[in-house]
Amino acid sequence: MTPLLSVRDLRIAYSGSDVVHGVDVDVPDGPYGVGLIGESGSGKTTIARALLRLHPVSGGSVSFDGQDVLGLRGAALSEYRRSAQIVFQDGDGALDPRMSVYSTVAEPFAVHRTVPRSERRARVALLLDEVGLPADVSTRYPHQLSGGQRQRVVIARALALEPRLLVLDEPTSALDVTVQERVLRLIERLRAERGLAYLLISHNLAVVDRLCESSVVLYRGVVMERGSTVTLLSRPLHPYTRALRAAVPEIGVTRPPLTHVATGASTPGAPTGCVYADRCPLAVEICRTETPALRELDGRDVACHRAEEATAAGS
Ligand SMILES: Nc1ncnc2c1ncn2[C@@H]1O[C@H](COP(=O)(O)OP(=O)(O)O)[C@@H](O)[C@H]1O
Ligand code: SF4
Ligand SMILES: [Mg+2]
Repeated sequence: MTPLLSVRDLRIAYSGSDVVHGVDVDVPDGPYGVGLIGESGSGKTTIARALLRLHPVSGGSVSFDGQDVLGLRGAALSEYRRSAQIVFQDGDGALDPRMSVYSTVAEPFAVHRTVPRSERRARVALLLDEVGLPADVSTRYPHQLSGGQRQRVVIARALALEPRLLVLDEPTSALDVTVQERVLRLIERLRAERGLAYLLISHNLAVVDRLCESSVVLYRGVVMERGSTVTLLSRPLHPYTRALRAAVPEIGVTRPPLTHVATGASTPGAPTGCVYADRCPLAVEICRTETPALRELDGRDVACHRAEEATAAGS
């Protein structure tokens, strides 16, 4: 079956220097979740923005429902922007501080002229109800809302145009644990009720485990491993996936971000050899000279010269 969103060999640069080096991701039609996992600086937000045509790419292709997204112009681009919506992490300036909740959620109706003015109040009320907000928040402004309420407003606005795809960029990482749980439940419910497909960006494996059928593990703009989330979490083969997994023995429990797991920081740069070599306990000479290709092994795709050793070790 053709995926709803299909990304091939995506390359993205800042000021001429590549930070995303040939990423492939598929998102099937909903209800379906794909996790994009990786620590801070690995290129997740950059990919999300490029998929929504908010940042130019330096190469590769993106297709949505069979259409070439990167070539869309005018009315076709506007239509794509209705069908695919992005939810940024709270605090990323997602809400205009001068706009009330009502104006924020109703704005897409006006911009895309999908709902006549006379019906907008009722539609906004339905959306607020759908994301679990009381009707009286509609007259409030962002600074009068809690972090969890603001994130619900962002989600209500994203849902206003009945998208087929949501890109959720760390939707809960700025929220405290209880509020996080409520937003996760909201995503689960919307997925079931609306049949949504989503790309869920997270550095929290427990979140991805709960909401995503398949996952892609990214490190410094390169895919390390991808496959079904169950396979990756139960038998990770890539040393980086294994390090992430080892840090969350009790998957299913919401935990703090995993950035403390490994040492060092993700920095951009054209990769020669394996991008993980500086931090990999298994690195050998070939890892520094030859870039490991993503290849199929034991029911998933993995980019590591020594992945067989993890299979042999029975992990
Ligand atoms: N506006 C920008 N200008 C230059 N470099 C950027 C910019 N935004 C992000 N980067 C760099 O691109 C890389 C990927 O960043 P980002 O996509 O934000 O990662 P993530 O979302 O995984 O934390 C990082 O090395 C980051 O420093
Ligand atoms: S290719 Fe080498 S450095 Fe890269 S993850 Fe595998 S063993 Fe480690
Ligand atoms: Mg980010």
